[in-house]
Amino acid sequence: MRRKVIAGNWKMNMLPNEAIAYIEEFEPLVKDTKNEVILCVPYTDLFYCLMNAQGTNIKIGAQNMHFAESGAYTGEVSGKMLKSIGVEYVIIGHSERREYFNETDESVNKKIKAAFENELKPIVCVGEKLEQREAGTAEEVVTTQVKLDLEGLTNEQVKNTIIAYEPIWAIGTGKTATSEDANNMIKTIRHQIAELFGNDVAEEVIIQYGGSVKSSNAKELFTTSDIDGGLVGGASLKPEEFSKIVNYDA
Ligand code: PGA
Repeated sequence: MRRKVIAGNWKMNMLPNEAIAYIEEFEPLVKDTKNEVILCVPYTDLFYCLMNAQGTNIKIGAQNMHFAESGAYTGEVSGKMLKSIGVEYVIIGHSERREYFNETDESVNKKIKAAFENELKPIVCVGEKLEQREAGTAEEVVTTQVKLDLEGLTNEQVKNTIIAYEPIWAIGTGKTATSEDANNMIKTIRHQIAELFGNDVAEEVIIQYGGSVKSSNAKELFTTSDIDGGLVGGASLKPEEFSKIVNYDA
């Protein structure tokens, strides 16, 4: 049985003092869960969150990284830098980065490889736009992203990759994919991973759903056959609400 992994994506929100207060309130609410709990926070909160989450079951991730180790890339942060302060996870290829910051499947692929070189676990986002879903090409779009993003990885690396299926039309819109549609797309992704990397890998890889997950729909989504948890944006900004999502099975 695969574990459930529930990750919060704070996006560009939360000052350090707010992050510290959040963890103080959130920690006792999730300490008894057997689900994996991750908070992906802005760079400026990473150190504070790592310090305050020490000795708890809350893991800390970043929201992006550069693929180079170091060099003349003004404003960027490398995987090596993240690793050096104790970060464990990093979101790669979020649709907002693909849309606003020219992230491509090629750069996503390079970043995933660099994450593994630095012993970071990537949370790789894929998902179709509304026009693509309406045109009936959603599966093709998503399976192409999966293929290009994971190209050249070893089986062991793919087993340690978390994939987040996030239909773009469901992100921050309040429109959630139905649990059936989300589960079907995730099955398709798993099937494709089986073709590319074998059944063992496909059975182990964690595939989350993301897009307007909240406490009122988490259980329905996470108890389907193939959805292994969620990547949660807006609803992860409030400790109590996010704890209810983490504790969906309590
Ligand atoms: P949302 O965002 O939960 O606010 O829809 C999800 C995400 O972008 O990861």
